[in-house]
Amino acid sequence: MPADSQSPFRFASASLAGLQPSATLHINERVQALRAAGRDVLHLGFGESRFPVPAAVVAALREHAEERSYLPVLGLPELRAAIAAFYGRHFGLAVAAEQVVIGPGSKALLLALALATDGAVLLPTPAWVSYAPQAQLARRSVVPVPMDPAAGYALDPERLQHALQKAAANWQRPEMLLLNTPSNPLGSAQNADALQACAEFARRNRLMVVSDEIYSLTAHNARGAASMAAHYPEGTVVTGGLSKHLSLGGWRFGVAILPPGAAGRELAAALQIVAGEIWSCVAAPVQHAALAAYGADPAIAQHIAQSARLHGARTRVLHSVLQEFGVPCPLPDAGFYLYPNFERWRAVLAQRNVHTSAQLAAHLLEKYAIATLPGSAFHDDALTLRLSSSYLDTELAAGGAQVFAEFARDADDCISRGHPRLQRAASTLAEFISGLGS
Ligand SMILES: Cc1ncc(COP(=O)(O)O)c(C=O)c1O
Repeated sequence: MPADSQSPFRFASASLAGLQPSATLHINERVQALRAAGRDVLHLGFGESRFPVPAAVVAALREHAEERSYLPVLGLPELRAAIAAFYGRHFGLAVAAEQVVIGPGSKALLLALALATDGAVLLPTPAWVSYAPQAQLARRSVVPVPMDPAAGYALDPERLQHALQKAAANWQRPEMLLLNTPSNPLGSAQNADALQACAEFARRNRLMVVSDEIYSLTAHNARGAASMAAHYPEGTVVTGGLSKHLSLGGWRFGVAILPPGAAGRELAAALQIVAGEIWSCVAAPVQHAALAAYGADPAIAQHIAQSARLHGARTRVLHSVLQEFGVPCPLPDAGFYLYPNFERWRAVLAQRNVHTSAQLAAHLLEKYAIATLPGSAFHDDALTLRLSSSYLDTELAAGGAQVFAEFARDADDCISRGHPRLQRAASTLAEFISGLGS
């Protein structure tokens, strides 16, 4: 941060040094500039579910718009009970209301967890952009642990154990393991075996696990995604919220499911202090809307299932192009992300002056008008990109409503209707990859 000697502000260098506005913001600015110059950019860099909001949830928000009093810091008791029951119905987890804490987005809860606990953070990578900056804001060090692309980035306890030992030799004591399944940026989920192995590792080392499972309810097939809480209930905090499966990112609603018993109660008390000193409570009307969203209404369960299947159909359009040209990429399990790896074309790309993932993303943007995020934003040195299918043809709210309605009418044929930009992105990607040669 530039130090202006005349300024009355002195910045917290330990918290902020090296941090930049997020990679997503940067790419958005570049896309705006290109659009202003008249180019029609296909935005695969933006990860936001943009389907319509269920009518009952909108109605609940409207109905409670005039409620303006503070509510309990950890959430309305009836809402915490409804969320506990929801986790039972959807994930088969036995959760009591006292284990549920709500916040203004899961991002805020993740930061509160980082502030309320201690020690270095073990972070399997590639990992979402905000975990490391949040750890730094909480003055905690991060131990990145790269997972093996050849193994589909499956959680590998041996790599984690090795990282733990190396950290100990460096006077660090990791106390927290931060997982994200299904993953942003990978688009894939860890299977039950990988989670079980990871649970044994965490139990052996008495690590707290924070498992960010915000994409769980966007799992493309009916089997759903496995939860770490089923494997390590005594030591796991699961985070989630309404941003992904109900396209409600801007309403800012997140949940944390704490472990049962005394450990969970202690953590709830600590979170109550952090939350009480930062956000006081989630906005009252939003809590009432969340009560509708987490209720047992079959129409909402159906809306969630339809959103997830539609994300799957849209994401597979891009995945099949990558497959056709043999680009290594994890199979998408949930949400709207793909994580292709272009290492095989390193020499060809070098001839185009592309040596890093950031240069690869810039090349795609300038030459093909396709916006993506580079793997480097996710702690990855390889020539990888994160593509998102979420934004195309839903740029306007009407587009989101239209593709959603088309899918409800005829799921099998919906991609050929209302998806011109997604199809153009697929053919432009094909043109780029075929131009690389085999
Ligand atoms: C992996 C992951 N975790 C957490 C979040 C934050 O979600 P929210 O704060 O909207 O609940 C996001 C949003 O992009 C995400 O991709």
